[in-house]
Amino acid sequence: MKKQYLVMMGILVIIGLYYLVGFIAGDYFKLTGNIEKSDSTWIGPSLYLDNSVLGEERELIIYGQDLIAHTSKYLGPKGSVAQITNGMNCQNCHLQAGAKAWGNNYAAVFSTYPKFRDRSGQVETIYKRVADCMERSLNGTAVDSNSKEFKAIYAYIKWLGQDVKKDEKPYGSGIEKLTYLDRAADPQKGKIVYTAQCQSCHGANGEGQLAPDALEYTYPPLWGSHSYNDGAGLYRLSNFAGYVKNNMPNLLTSHENPTLTEAESWDVAAYVNSQSRPHKDQSKDWPNYEKKPVDFPFGPYADSFSEEQHKYGPFKPIQDFYKK
Ligand code: HEC
Ligand code: HEC
Repeated sequence: MKKQYLVMMGILVIIGLYYLVGFIAGDYFKLTGNIEKSDSTWIGPSLYLDNSVLGEERELIIYGQDLIAHTSKYLGPKGSVAQITNGMNCQNCHLQAGAKAWGNNYAAVFSTYPKFRDRSGQVETIYKRVADCMERSLNGTAVDSNSKEFKAIYAYIKWLGQDVKKDEKPYGSGIEKLTYLDRAADPQKGKIVYTAQCQSCHGANGEGQLAPDALEYTYPPLWGSHSYNDGAGLYRLSNFAGYVKNNMPNLLTSHENPTLTEAESWDVAAYVNSQSRPHKDQSKDWPNYEKKPVDFPFGPYADSFSEEQHKYGPFKPIQDFYKK
């Protein structure tokens, strides 16, 4: 009887050891996997850890970071510096003050500007690009290039991209490009996604929710008079879908753990961008029609596809047309 008991114990110990070793080894391999991944994905620097910038320059960078994170407090409808933007923060779209991998970050800004951009048909400086987001995404007026505010934003963007070599775009910078669907993105399907996954924060009418002090949004608006205008980057479905797939619902979603499928991301982009929002005259944009992105929804075009197809897709036939 006692012998049998010992044998049983022995077997249990062996089984236990087997799982313990498996568990430790499994975790060990997982850990190395993660390290490899973060090696190639861009990670923004931290001001807490960086004691190389001091004095006035450091203060300017901190002010720049705060202007990105809490733009509306300074420049929104009740802004302390000026009242020239719609109440959104740069950070609403450039997550973690532009330091989050796949979160529409600024990793490749200092390394790639000034550069030629087809939208304006000109060589653009960092100032011009920041001013563009103020006039389009923030549906407002740009600060002056000599203002303390722009100098601070510039200092911050420069500091953020300090480790990126000239002309380099690190893995994880900007917005992920998703593959095009074989069909047009569908606002009706997108509405179902919106109701289930977005409405709780962004509101039934996309109006968002102001913070108690009403100086900025807790949940930013997705359409309506306080949202980005139709000249903004997010008005193009590819940008919206790539941003949302990697980042929304906020804090619950990452590049590694997306909530929405790619199809759901395109469809919710179609739904949100079929709602009303401020209009911007863009007749001077994309002076070379052949360089208009396939998902730019305003003609004239150098092809014969409709504005409707340029807005919702299918985009592959348009892409193929320009490949020929
Ligand atoms: C409504 C969303 C939204 C807001 C708010 C917003 N942006 Fe942007 N921003 C975008 C999108 C979308 C792009 C284009 C990304 C692309 O084309 O890959 C962009 C691009 C940029 C770029 C160029 C990035 C690059 O890698 O070329 C800069 C710089 C920039 N924004 C600065 C700002 C600043 C500063 C603010 C606040 C004053 C701001 N943005 C507010 C959506 C926004
Ligand atoms: C848990 C709340 C929450 C949910 C759910 C959520 N969001 Fe957001 N969303 C946010 C917050 C907060 C921000 C701004 C983040 C910041 O400022 O750091 C944001 C920002 C955005 C932005 C950029 C700013 C703007 O207003 O244009 C878009 C686009 C967006 N969300 C789309 C979506 C979509 C589409 C869904 C559903 C798939 C969704 N969100 C679900 C909280 C949420």
